[in-house]
Amino acid sequence: MSKLFVLDHPLAGNFLATLRDKATDPHVFRQQVKHLGHMLVIEASKDLEVEAKAIQTPMCETSEDVIAESVGIVPILRAGLGLVDPFLDLMPDSKVLCLGMYRNEETHQPVTYYNKLSEYDLVDVAYVIDPMLATGGSAIITVDALKKWGVKKIKFVGLIGAPEGVKAFQEAHPDVDVHLAAQDDHLNDDAYIIPGLGDAGDRIFNT
Ligand code: PRP
Ligand code: URA
Repeated sequence: MSKLFVLDHPLAGNFLATLRDKATDPHVFRQQVKHLGHMLVIEASKDLEVEAKAIQTPMCETSEDVIAESVGIVPILRAGLGLVDPFLDLMPDSKVLCLGMYRNEETHQPVTYYNKLSEYDLVDVAYVIDPMLATGGSAIITVDALKKWGVKKIKFVGLIGAPEGVKAFQEAHPDVDVHLAAQDDHLNDDAYIIPGLGDAGDRIFNT
């Protein structure tokens, strides 16, 4: 079974409290997503392979371990875009490979509307990013697409997950670890996360 990592840090609660608050303005909301994103990237990238790189300092020759794997950041449109910047801030050489999905409002099933993976060079590691893991459907079919494309090492990174979605995702992809800032209580009848933060895409993009 894949591992579930949930941030365990006092700062995470502060950022989440602001995100969950319905009075938070979109620009502050985006800022808090970015702060949590930075914390998650650091955790989720811990096991990247490294290689020694020779460096000449002003004092002498030395070497430092640098990332040896090619990295793809895979935001699930739209809300996943909110987590792209924190990844690019810390791993600026990554490729950004967008996948477009929306949930059918009645069935809650994900529908793919954009996938150009076959046009790009394969990456060694892919980080699927989406603030919300609700039923898990969008994340599951995104990882399906990445595996079909040929990616061998994949992780899911999100802000809030529902236990139902985490379970479904881990059953579908037992080889893909999940990194979250929080695991919430349950899904409501509309498949929204409770307590959650509402519609992540609407709150990021002020729609
Ligand atoms: C939201 C969210 C995830 C998905 C999660 O996207 O950003 O992609 O729902 O739900 P699931 O785990 O049940 O699949 P939404 O469909 O609202 O699209 P948007 O990002 O364009 O707002
Ligand atoms: N998508 C969201 O944006 N929020 C939820 O709570 C569930 C799905």
